Amino acid sequence: MAKAAVETRKAFTPGKIAGLTLRNRTIRAGCFEGMCEKGNCTDLLIEHHRAVAAGGIGMTTVSYVSVSESARAYGHEMWMRREILPDLQRLTSAVHKEGAAASVQLGHCGYFASKHDTGFQPVGASRRFNLFRISFPKPMTEDDIKKVTQDFANAALLAREAGFDAVEVHSGHGYLLSQFLSPYTNKRKDIYGGSLENRMRFPAGVVRAVRQAMGPDFPVMVKMNVTDGIKGGIEIDDAVAIARRFEAEGASGLVPSCGFTSKTPFMMMRGNRPILEFAAADKDFIRRFGLLFFGNIIVQEFTYKNLFLMQEALKIAKAVKIPVALVGGICSVNDLETAMNAGFEFVELGRATIRDPDIVNKWQKAEVMAADCDHCNRCVAVMNGGPVYCVCNKKGHLKRRIGSKGIDASKYRASALI
Ligand SMILES: Cc1cc2nc3c(=O)[nH]c(=O)nc-3n(C[C@H](O)[C@H](O)[C@H](O)COP(=O)(O)O)c2cc1C
Repeated sequence: MAKAAVETRKAFTPGKIAGLTLRNRTIRAGCFEGMCEKGNCTDLLIEHHRAVAAGGIGMTTVSYVSVSESARAYGHEMWMRREILPDLQRLTSAVHKEGAAASVQLGHCGYFASKHDTGFQPVGASRRFNLFRISFPKPMTEDDIKKVTQDFANAALLAREAGFDAVEVHSGHGYLLSQFLSPYTNKRKDIYGGSLENRMRFPAGVVRAVRQAMGPDFPVMVKMNVTDGIKGGIEIDDAVAIARRFEAEGASGLVPSCGFTSKTPFMMMRGNRPILEFAAADKDFIRRFGLLFFGNIIVQEFTYKNLFLMQEALKIAKAVKIPVALVGGICSVNDLETAMNAGFEFVELGRATIRDPDIVNKWQKAEVMAADCDHCNRCVAVMNGGPVYCVCNKKGHLKRRIGSKGIDASKYRASALI
């Protein structure tokens, strides 16, 4: 493929989400960075996103930021609060100086929240055993629902004050909003459970509240599941109706994804299951033991293929008028081109940018045509205990072993992690 031809491809032309124009159509997918010691916005996190921005991405997404302290799954997960505003402002201005836009993924872990790390009792749609945290959540009351809805709106307002150009509401992967959408976890008998209309009530209300808080032009993306990958969970027909509802409530763009963190965690990534590394990074003795001995049975395998969500995401794209970003297995210039030709306005890149933060520049300049990520997914294991990084060197060997106590972020230079 000739260099000039690559530079003029649609993926490298500006794209619009609501009132925001991105320099190209690539977005760094929300990938939990594990860099927020004590829930703070650290220098490591700032440098990580600055580097991704310098690498040519159109917009980088700061990942899984909790809308409240109690809603976190990890101690090293950030939560939105005024106290960290100056550091968030440093992050967004570092990203802007490199020519990219900055988004923040806002979420609530629901019954995946960790009482051990936060000291708070996890809440959820219904009282249902949670294998991920080995606990039962408290079913949310009407007041809890109102409070969390307001927390999302407040977090979005704070994000804009911090200089973020967009927010992404996380309504997939089995987190709180997904727990309400999914009949697998939502067993409620009130107006928030039962029919799809009822199950959508709370997540739709969150999108509406965020839209109302932000005004008409601010980009509000929503990440959602096309399938939970579990019996009795969300499937594509429901997902199409959910996508339409999010659009009607004011979403500016959608990111169709899949998988349920506690049941089918590798569905959203596909490829290798790094069970040993997962066990090593887990601080919980029971879970570590369970993973070591039963990991291969408990953690389901999903075969990797490029553009693995394309068919389902197309069904969503056809059902709505707002831009849809394709995520999942986009690893080469050919993949970008296939996604653009299929009609997607944007693509989101996860592991390709963890493997090489400069990958978009390299693709645009035709220095390389594909990322050399081999989907070993060890990056997913390390982020449980500390900062995310690509564990493989070019030959695919382990670069660094994870200790059973996880990784102390302060011991690593940001440049060594990206
Ligand atoms: C290390 C890692 C962390 C991730 N953390 C998140 C997250 O916090 N929120 C989210 O929505 N998706 C998360 N994902 C999923 C990605 O956003 C993306 O959907 C998935 O990796 C597929 O895209 P890819 O093939 O480009 O990697 C994570 C993926 C990886 C590899």
